[in-house]
Amino acid sequence: MRTPEELSPLTAGHRAPAEDRAAVERRAGAGAAAYGELCPEAVASALGWLRLTSEDELVDLGSGVGKLVTQAAQESAVGLARGVELSRFRHRLARERWARILRAAPPGAARALRRRVRLEWGDLREADLSRATVLYVGSTCFPEALLDAVAELACGAPRLRVLLSTRALAPRWGARLPEQARLRVRTTWDPNAWLYAYAR
Ligand SMILES: C[S@@+](CC[C@H](N)C(=O)[O-])C[C@H]1O[C@@H](n2cnc3c(N)ncnc32)[C@H](O)[C@@H]1O
Repeated sequence: MRTPEELSPLTAGHRAPAEDRAAVERRAGAGAAAYGELCPEAVASALGWLRLTSEDELVDLGSGVGKLVTQAAQESAVGLARGVELSRFRHRLARERWARILRAAPPGAARALRRRVRLEWGDLREADLSRATVLYVGSTCFPEALLDAVAELACGAPRLRVLLSTRALAPRWGARLPEQARLRVRTTWDPNAWLYAYAR
């Protein structure tokens, strides 16, 4: 059961202070600190399309306050759902939010959920993707170089089967990461956005 705050399109991730956003953009480039989320029904439809199993590791590269990560753990069979977030403010909120969810869950369920979620602070370009099978990136405002870095990481991740991105990759990636599908999704910035799925 989600709280009204969690369902609201105007979430706490938008409220990152100026100095926190500046720190993200100094490292990752102009636009990198912009915030937005897939709405819960969009996450549910992406999860349905992905058909995750206990063999899967899903990584949200730039995971904000962690909603997609925790929803994946709560509503799919994914083995491990990870979020990597460079904003210290959003990372802290993500951990606090997850702790609140776990406290509200029955102890047995909380123990099982805790093992299947990892929220990490850091630069997505340094994330360990050696076990990742699915990558998601809310990349709409990412600088081109950062989205290219994500595509390069996807090409190098040995177990990867799908990269999901809210922005289309440049056509030059087509040979290495062919587009597999396009899902219509509701996001906090556009009720009719696309989610691009690239196969490996
Ligand atoms: C559009 S938001 C996506 C939020 C979340 N994935 C969701 O859908 O609910 C993009 C996030 O990427 C983060 N970010 C930008 N550059 C990053 C980097 N190099 N490493 C990790 N996170 C980064 C931003 O701070 C922001 O929180």
